[in-house]
Amino acid sequence: MNPSRRPLIAGNWKMYKGGRTGVELAQACVAFARDLPGVDVVVAPPFTALAAVAETIEGSAVTLSAQNLYPKDEGAFTGEISATMLVECGCAWVIVGHSERRQYFGETDAFVAEKAGAALAHDLLPIVCVGETLQQREAGETLRIVKQQVDAFLDVIARSKHAVAVAYEPVWAIGTGKTAGPAEAEEVHAAIRAWLEKKDAALAARTRILYGGSVKPDNAKALLGCPNVDGALVGGASLDAASFGAIARAAAS
Ligand code: PGA
Repeated sequence: MNPSRRPLIAGNWKMYKGGRTGVELAQACVAFARDLPGVDVVVAPPFTALAAVAETIEGSAVTLSAQNLYPKDEGAFTGEISATMLVECGCAWVIVGHSERRQYFGETDAFVAEKAGAALAHDLLPIVCVGETLQQREAGETLRIVKQQVDAFLDVIARSKHAVAVAYEPVWAIGTGKTAGPAEAEEVHAAIRAWLEKKDAALAARTRILYGGSVKPDNAKALLGCPNVDGALVGGASLDAASFGAIARAAAS
């Protein structure tokens, strides 16, 4: 396997674990990650916990991600956080285009691409999320929608030499307990790989494509066993160190 496609397991804490509980969770992640040298473990706490978690994971195998950024370096943008600020805080990664951002905050494909570009300009690696809604899946539009989302940022990631991650997260599977079956996930992952390949073979070889949407210890192995699934973006189950650790172990085996 291409070494840049080592399994990557990222925990998206969403709007949970902001303070002391976030530090405790990070400590537990450091402990299990020590035994999993073949897996990249990433945690994405809320902004308010980034500095404390950065200190907690320092020198460990766990790396830090933010959940969002604003695509300007600085300025009068009340309430927003830039890529440079995230780097200063110790982040190596940033999630962009999560479906909750698209759905509740009106983020468009173009804005998501701009965010990915802003991150890469500061050597911050984006985990760019894509995925169809239930209505789109039922209308047979999954591949068309996901391709449209990928096309929006394809040039941006192809211009960079950094190895980014793309997360396929069917919206209907997020936080619902419903997961795409391994075959359903692999179909979309393989399609994404083929679109990357068409653009640039090296890009396809270095990009990790993560699956997200109700990944749990009991379904992780089957999903992570798919040839084009290089890891997982985990929400709910990443809030519990035992579950998150079990998912990371499934990626190692
Ligand atoms: P979930 O969330 O694992 O709770 O479904 C995944 C995500 O939103 O990234």
